[in-house]
Parts: sequence; C-alpha cells; structure tokens
Amino acid sequence: MAINVFVPSFHVDEILVGIRECLEKGWTGLGFKTVEFEEAWKKYTGLPHAHFLSSNTVGLHLALHVYGLTRNWRDDDEIITTPLTFVSTNHAIMYERLKPVFADVDESLCLDPKSIEARITPKTKAVLFVGIGGNIGQYPAVVELCKRKNLILILDAAHMSGTYVGDRHVGFDADCTVFSYQAVKNLPTSDAGMVCFNDGNLDKLARELSWLGINKDTYQRFQGGAYKWRYDVPNVGFKYHGNSIQASIALVQLKYLDQDNDRRRQIASLYDTLLKDASSVKRIPHSDRCKSSRHLYQILVKNRDLVLQHFYSKEIYPGVHYVDNTEYQPYAYAHGSCPRAQAMSQELITLPIHLKLTDEDCRAVVAALLEGIKATGG
Ligand SMILES: Cc1ncc(COP(=O)(O)O)c(C=O)c1O
Repeated sequence: MAINVFVPSFHVDEILVGIRECLEKGWTGLGFKTVEFEEAWKKYTGLPHAHFLSSNTVGLHLALHVYGLTRNWRDDDEIITTPLTFVSTNHAIMYERLKPVFADVDESLCLDPKSIEARITPKTKAVLFVGIGGNIGQYPAVVELCKRKNLILILDAAHMSGTYVGDRHVGFDADCTVFSYQAVKNLPTSDAGMVCFNDGNLDKLARELSWLGINKDTYQRFQGGAYKWRYDVPNVGFKYHGNSIQASIALVQLKYLDQDNDRRRQIASLYDTLLKDASSVKRIPHSDRCKSSRHLYQILVKNRDLVLQHFYSKEIYPGVHYVDNTEYQPYAYAHGSCPRAQAMSQELITLPIHLKLTDEDCRAVVAALLEGIKATGG
C-alpha cells in the first residue's frame, strides 16, 4: 500500500453526533458550535480571544486588514515575511496591497532575526513569522525585536496547533496568532481556521469584519428565541466566518490533539534514531525550547528530485515544504534576496508523518531514502 506524506484521521462516530445535533437543531452556520469551539480553543491554548473562521488564509488577511484599518497603514507599507511558506502567508499581504519584504531563514527554516532586522525600513509595519512544521526556531528573539522596533508580530501558526513553549501554548506573546484546521493539519476539519488577537477591541472588530462588517451576527440576533432583524454595518467586511459543521468536527478533534501530537513526536524521534548515522541526510533541528506539534518532519538531501523519483518507484510519496516563494511570479521581484532559503528549498523533503503511519512504515521510508541517496550518487 502506498505511503503518503499526510493522511488525516477523524473520530467519525463522535463527530457525527455533533453534526447530527446541528442538523436537528436547525443551526449549521455561525454561532452555536462555533461559539463552543472558540471557548474550547481559548481554554486549550490559554489565549484571551479566539474567532473561528473558514480558513487560516482568511485569518491572515483579516489580521492584516484589522491592523491596516486601526493603524492607518498605507498601500506599499512593508511586512517582513518568509519565502519558505505556503503561499497563503504572502498572498494575505498582497490582498491588502501591502508589500511582502522577504527575510532569510536560519537552519530551522524559520525566519532569522538578524535578517529581519536588516530588512526593517521606515515603511515596515509588521513581521509575519511562520512556525514551520510546528517549530519555533528563534521566535523568542523575534518577539524581542518586534517589541524593540515597535512592530506588530503576527504568528502564522498553521502548523502549530499543540506547540508549547515551556508549559504555555504558542501565541501568548504575539499580537495575533492564526491557526489552520485545514484537512491535513494537526487538528484537521474540512477547512477552518482561528484568528486570536491579544487585544479584545481588535477581536471584536475582526468578528464584525468576518461577517461582512455587520455589527451583530445572526446568532446574536436570534438569542431569546425571537429573531431581531435590525443591525448596522460600520465597515465593508468579508464572508470569512466558520460554521457549526466545521466546528463540530474541530470540537471532537481537539479532544485528541495532544495525544495525536505525542504520536507525531514519537514518529519524529524514530526517524531521528533511524537517520542519526546517515551523513548524507541533514535533519532540521527543532528548538529544544519548544515541544513541537511536529506537523512536518523535514530533511535536506542532495539530488532531491532524483531521490523523490526513487521514493515514487517504491510507492512512497513524501512532500516538499516549500518551494522558495520568490520562484513564483507574484514574488519574483525578490528572487535571489534570500540565498539560504533558496538553497535549502532545492533540497527539502518532508517525510511521511501522520497517525496511520506504523513504525514499520517509517523503517520502509528510511530504507527507501537511503537506497535513493545511494542510487543517485549522494
Ligand atoms: C504555513 C501555512 N500558512 C497558511 C496556510 C493556509 O491555511 P488554510 O488552508 O487553513 O487557509 C497553510 C496551509 O497549508 C500553511 O501551511
């Protein structure tokens, strides 16, 4: 049987109970289960605010839009970001007509604070940090830098559901943290996300803006059993909120998140052990200051594309996270500005990591990897 990079696992029967409840109540939209999940997420992470959305992509856009509105950002103001990410991170900056300024990464594949500092100009408004694979890299130094330079820090925590720093869930020291519950993330749903501002006024504004700018959502207007039609629209907003079907899935998956991440960490340490003497494989260090969610297990190898071909011949399908975004047309203006990210992105492979993977599968993956490296002269 093929071994794929990601395979989600769902607690089907338990989830169906929640979905049935929505259908029987006649409430599948915003409110009801979305409120319950927001409360559960705040309790789980310790973050003060959480607003449930249809994806992380819209959450990043909403975060930048909220800061833009409240701080009078102008077109072409600059956001420092990473070239090693899913394009959502950088597209969100473009949606607001802000300019992505790419800083380089360090050996953890996360942004290097020295490179960030070198890219700060009078137009810089914020740093968008991606915790790639659940790793924090030098994130604490980035928090310090943003404080010192008075920059907003937005954490793209798409991979970080269940990443802890000490005994605290990540996000407490960012201005805004955005999670993803997309179908193959650590907390998979169908598609969904969460935006967590540390400022209650911004959370309130984001709630309005995710519901077209309307100042009272339908669920609020329905409370007390009688539907009240009147509302105001202070701003032009978006249709970005999540719904009760997505939240029903999320509520169940959250119960298993820590346990699921424990298994991911076990897989990662098995890979670490199996690869410890393989000098042709460079492993990506995960900071020992964090307990990583281990969304990804990434390595660097020479002749990456040939090694991938060898994997495919064994019906093993790893991933690549990510192509240097400056290779893509919308970001080509910055091509070559981050040499480390550019070089690493040529060699990156994400080994399969998910809850259906057995230890035997991991051994087969490593055997295929080592064979592939040997066969391609690595
Ligand atoms: C680093 C990163 N940022 C943002 C996203 C976007 O998440 P979503 O699919 O929930 O919009 C992803 C999803 O793949 C991601 O990996």
